[in-house]
Amino acid sequence: MKRYLDCNATCPPVRAALDAVAQTAAEAVGNPSSLHWAGRAARRIIDDARDRIADYIDAESGSVVFTSGGTESNNIAIHSAIAPHRSGRIVCTAIEHPAVLQPLQRFAESGFEVVRVRPDHNGVVSAASMLAAINDQTCMVCMMLVNNESGVIQPVSEVALRCREQNIPMLVDAVQALGKVALDFRQLDVDFMSLSAHKIGGPKGVGALLVRRGVKLLELAPGGGQERGRRSGTENVPGIAGFAAALGEIDFSALAPIRDAFEQQLVTQIPEARIIAAEAPRTANTSLFVLPGMDGETLLMQLDLAGFAVASGSACSSGKRDPSHVLLAMGLNESLARSSIRVSFAPGNSLADAEALVAALVQSRNRLKGMAGLTA
Ligand SMILES: Cc1ncc(COP(=O)(O)O)c(C=O)c1O
Repeated sequence: MKRYLDCNATCPPVRAALDAVAQTAAEAVGNPSSLHWAGRAARRIIDDARDRIADYIDAESGSVVFTSGGTESNNIAIHSAIAPHRSGRIVCTAIEHPAVLQPLQRFAESGFEVVRVRPDHNGVVSAASMLAAINDQTCMVCMMLVNNESGVIQPVSEVALRCREQNIPMLVDAVQALGKVALDFRQLDVDFMSLSAHKIGGPKGVGALLVRRGVKLLELAPGGGQERGRRSGTENVPGIAGFAAALGEIDFSALAPIRDAFEQQLVTQIPEARIIAAEAPRTANTSLFVLPGMDGETLLMQLDLAGFAVASGSACSSGKRDPSHVLLAMGLNESLARSSIRVSFAPGNSLADAEALVAALVQSRNRLKGMAGLTA
């Protein structure tokens, strides 16, 4: 039996999104930039989706710029904020997604000072430590709202307030927050916020960058001037329709009892298992844990053979063998960081899935311990 428990990597598409994608792909045949009836019909679909997304996160419609997803949104925001500067300090959390850390690394290599602020042992990057890193040279601040590995909710509001006061562009990567925690773009009042459709049951390869009114975007790929000259390229009309249709379709909070039961059974049956960030505010579907002495990749492969789809380390780079930078930043040593598994429950998962996963983990752990000549 196959069980999908890797929702933070990508969430299985919801029916409403699949229907919207199929219908739009079949019926909205025109190019949304064309002036004729077919173009106007496609344009209307985009405009409706824009209104719906803006409404969902309390933003103005004009703030929503459609992109190919979270990675592109983060890159546009970072390049736009830093473009006017030749040097300066960029403050980010050390637990950002690679879609933030990698572009910032390029700026570090070209002379910018990138300060990566570490979380506490619970995975929380305190507002105080972010604020302490901001100086008068700071030209950008990046702080994710929810970490993709731990599910920990970060205190972005206080940092946003300071950035507004000091007129520092701030990017909030809300890719893992959408649908899981309340989002209010107007109230947050930051320059940029990134979203991605496939984390909420929408299609892959489409997302949005929220941009505060008056903030200029740097076009990374100049062209036909779509999205009011802010992001060129013919819009992914079916994807955009699917994104809007997916909004609010999943009640992630309903997954909390399953996650909690899983963690409780895990630590009962594998006493050495350690739940990461158990005391921090976390999204309801995510459980990150370490099994000391085990190799996360090997465990993952054994679980895969048993039909379970889970992640080890960072899901977006699960082909890589590097230990999780998030766990290292939290102060775990390499060996513990390599023993991590992330389970992110998806709609449709049940208590029976959680129980079956614990049983499979016990079996894998006993087998691996046996192979290592240890007693289980
Ligand atoms: C926090 C975070 N930011 C950005 C991304 C990248 O989003 P996308 O896959 O839409 O490019 C991800 C994907 O896992 C993510 O978890």
